[in-house]
This record gives sequence, structure tokens and C-alpha cells, in this order.
Amino acid sequence: MSYDQPYPHAAVQLNHTAVYASDRYLSAEFIAAILGLKVSAPFGPFLPVDLGNGVTLDYLEKRDEPIQSQHYAFLVPDEQFDAVIARLEVVGVTYYADPGHTDSGRVNDLFGGRGAYFDDPDGHNMEVMTRPYARP
Ligand SMILES: [Fe+2]
Repeated sequence: MSYDQPYPHAAVQLNHTAVYASDRYLSAEFIAAILGLKVSAPFGPFLPVDLGNGVTLDYLEKRDEPIQSQHYAFLVPDEQFDAVIARLEVVGVTYYADPGHTDSGRVNDLFGGRGAYFDDPDGHNMEVMTRPYARP
């Protein structure tokens, strides 16, 4: 398959993904509280958090081995960004301007918007941003 050809499945959308957590309630409630979302009722082993674009984060407990940090980026409206940062400050979670977590307490201005990174309870590297990445 050549990537120069028109993409044949452009209608395909991400529907859900499992997010590993040592405590699914703690992690789901954390991200829901920070982003202003709600946690849905458990669905089998999953604890769902629905996002605005139809994607569900299905929090799933994994207790038998360490949780490998993943990266999740959330596009938030401009008018909600300050509230997200304020909630991080209220709960004492440090945010950073950079993905490597060296520039603490600051937000970035990538792509003409604002963005920040923070860890969830299991060390997943969460990102909030008001503009999507602009790729060449
Ligand atoms: Fe990112």
C-alpha cells in the first residue's frame, strides 16, 4: 500500500481505547474532574469516560505488572483552558509547558494556541491544548 494514494478508509474513526490504571476509579475520576467530563457506569471491566468527539477512554485496571506510561492529548476549547489549569492547581498537580516535564508551572503557545502537560495518577503523560498540531 502506498501512502501517496488517496486514503481508502477516511471514514474510519477511533471509537475507544483502553487506558490502563492501577485504580480505574481514581484515574477515570481524575481525568474527568480535570477536563470537566463525567465518568459513566462501569461496562464490564471498563470504566468509560466519553469525550466530545465520540471517543471513549475505557479505564481498565492492570495490577499484575507496572503500567507503561502512554501519551494522551486532549483538544479543549479556548474558553475552557484556564479552568483546566485552575483545576490542576487546585488539586496540586504540576503542569508543564513541554512534554519532557522540565518547564513547570507554565503553558506553551504552540501553533498559536495554549497547551500544557501533566501526569495522571499512573504517570500517563496527559496533554491539553487549544490548537491541534499543525503538520507540514
Ligand atoms: Fe502530544
